[in-house]
Amino acid sequence: MQNPKRYLITAALPYANGLKHVGHLAGAYIPADIYARYLRAQLRDVVFVCGSDEHGTAIPIQARKEGTTAQAIIDKYHEAMRQDFGDLSIEFDIYHRTSDPLHHETAAAFFQQLEQAGELETKETEQFFDPEAQTFLADRFIKGTCPSCKSDRAFGDQCESCGRSLSPDELINPLSTLSGATPILKKTTHWYLPLGKHEAFLREWILEQHKQDWRPTVVGQCKGWIEGGLQSRAVTRDLDWGVKVPLPQADGKVLYVWFDAPIGYISATKQWAIDNGKDWEPYWKDADTQLVHFIGKDNIVFHCIIFPVMLKLGGYILPDNVPSNEFLNLEGDKMSTSRNWKLDMRDYINDFVKAENGGGQAVDMLRYYLTQIAPETKDSEFTWKGFQDAVNNELVAVLGNFVNRSWVLMHKLCKGKVPPYHAAKADEYDKALIEQIRVATESITAHLEKYQFRDALFTVIDLARHGNQYMQRKEPWIIAKRLETEPDAQQSIDNCLHLCLQLTANLTILVNPFLPNTTKTLCQMMKVVDRMLEWKNAGRIDLLKVGYSLREPQLLFRKIEDTEIATQLEKLKKNMMSNEIPPAPITTQAELPAAKPTIQFDDFAKIELKVGTIVAAEKVEKADKLLKLSVDLGTETRTIVSGIALHYSPEEIIGKQVSVVTNLAPRKMRGIESNGMILMAEDASGKLHFVNPQSPVEPGSGIS
Ligand code: 2FM
Ligand code: ZN
Repeated sequence: MQNPKRYLITAALPYANGLKHVGHLAGAYIPADIYARYLRAQLRDVVFVCGSDEHGTAIPIQARKEGTTAQAIIDKYHEAMRQDFGDLSIEFDIYHRTSDPLHHETAAAFFQQLEQAGELETKETEQFFDPEAQTFLADRFIKGTCPSCKSDRAFGDQCESCGRSLSPDELINPLSTLSGATPILKKTTHWYLPLGKHEAFLREWILEQHKQDWRPTVVGQCKGWIEGGLQSRAVTRDLDWGVKVPLPQADGKVLYVWFDAPIGYISATKQWAIDNGKDWEPYWKDADTQLVHFIGKDNIVFHCIIFPVMLKLGGYILPDNVPSNEFLNLEGDKMSTSRNWKLDMRDYINDFVKAENGGGQAVDMLRYYLTQIAPETKDSEFTWKGFQDAVNNELVAVLGNFVNRSWVLMHKLCKGKVPPYHAAKADEYDKALIEQIRVATESITAHLEKYQFRDALFTVIDLARHGNQYMQRKEPWIIAKRLETEPDAQQSIDNCLHLCLQLTANLTILVNPFLPNTTKTLCQMMKVVDRMLEWKNAGRIDLLKVGYSLREPQLLFRKIEDTEIATQLEKLKKNMMSNEIPPAPITTQAELPAAKPTIQFDDFAKIELKVGTIVAAEKVEKADKLLKLSVDLGTETRTIVSGIALHYSPEEIIGKQVSVVTNLAPRKMRGIESNGMILMAEDASGKLHFVNPQSPVEPGSGIS
């Protein structure tokens, strides 16, 4: 857009169902933050919004996993994510949440507006219903056997073993995860957004108007959706967690999470406006606002097709660009929360940021590496070796080294002050460096305007590299040796250090969107205020006044040692192994302990419970939570694999009596067939305790 009057920057609202990893950070949050910081330095009118996505089935599922309520889950992860983003210097103007009443109101009103305008259709379909829990089941709440790989870890949306996408009717022996009952098909009515009606608009807007300025990966995906035929999308769900559908006949229904979440950008802007005494409407309704959505590639269809149709129908502006990133892999494999193959932002914060005084250096080291490898055009990969190389070979050896040399020499050869520039004495190297500063500034600006953050950062570091080369050619420390015999030589030294200091000031401005903490340190060293950081100052070589005294140098970046990356690699492998305990078998569990449905005695009687005595125990190789137990059950000795190794050593449990579910179907864990389950009680601190008779009984005694 030519000369927008204001900018609205959004970063995908993360689900409040767990901590986020560095793939998320590289995908949406760092690029959005770089762009917002750049615009702020340009003194443009910019609002950068984000917040937690707190609806959808992901939340009640996580609540079940953690044995708590959905509300407790969103409260916990909303706060944790807000904190983690802050710790990594992601500076939103507001970090809102979709559970906020303002959002519920905004989303419900949005739906109502489309419904009243006749833009939604209703359809009656058949969906799986749990006859015991008396509720419709979201796909994720149906479990069964995968039709492809025959694993029993398949859900109504996807098989956890082979990864195949599924629909619930494909599952063999589907079971409700809420009650264990076999679901039945039942009629239900839902509201749909008829995307097909908007095909001509989408074709023109994306495939014509934006075919040049949007990333090819984004246009390509949109083309695929459009040419594949745009189906009507259900925008409501039968669920009790979410924004209630504001219609009397829609009792028990909520808005589909992907309908309400992007409206979260609007509610966040409204809240920001309330907090800051501003008007939110121009940001969403005036044609001279530039709206930019930063997302990962799995969110493209929602931000480029569905939400724009909603925005158009609602009378809002459309995004000017949707710079979506591809995926970031980790050490040769796809990042995965379910397999625990990931580096959480929180882990990096604990191991690097909190471990350091202030932590700004460590934050910038991660921001640097993630920008350098940002998956802007194709999937890319985080490796700890790559991180070490980026820090040691670029931040330390190029940027840190240039600044440090300039400062040390300025203190040694120029009395700690900015030396004058003697234009008459300027040589070809001085002139070339001035030109390089100008050209680099233009190029960095152009890249940032086009969301090419990798190239922009590369150009910043390249400019610092030119600084080192310049210093190497000028060799002021050699010239200094001639000072006694050649007093004019000081002018040559002055020119060199004057330009090195001016270059440092330029680097301070140019690196600011990427490495804001480094910029702060540099500002302290130069004793300059934030005004110098205005983007229009980049390219100038009079930023530091002649004669101005500067502080001592500070270490900008420290080296990453081999031992640190070895520790991280070890940790990664260990985390994945400790995750290899299959999820607890689904019996007749309700979502929350309090909500468990009543069962009949016959149900209880199906479970065979016996007292056993542990007669042998050993650790399971490469699984730090598992112990392999031999349990004497009177008439037989069973092998049972139990996830108690973090609580008990093998030696201390020999001879202990335990309660065993003896008729549980066998299952394999790390290649060992486990025949039964030991009952454990968990105290508030998470410690597990055996459930056993008050005084010893014969092994094999029944429990009833
Ligand atoms: O993929 C996700 O994590 C979604 N919670 C993103 C939502 S983005 C926006 F629409 F809110
Ligand atoms: Zn499968």
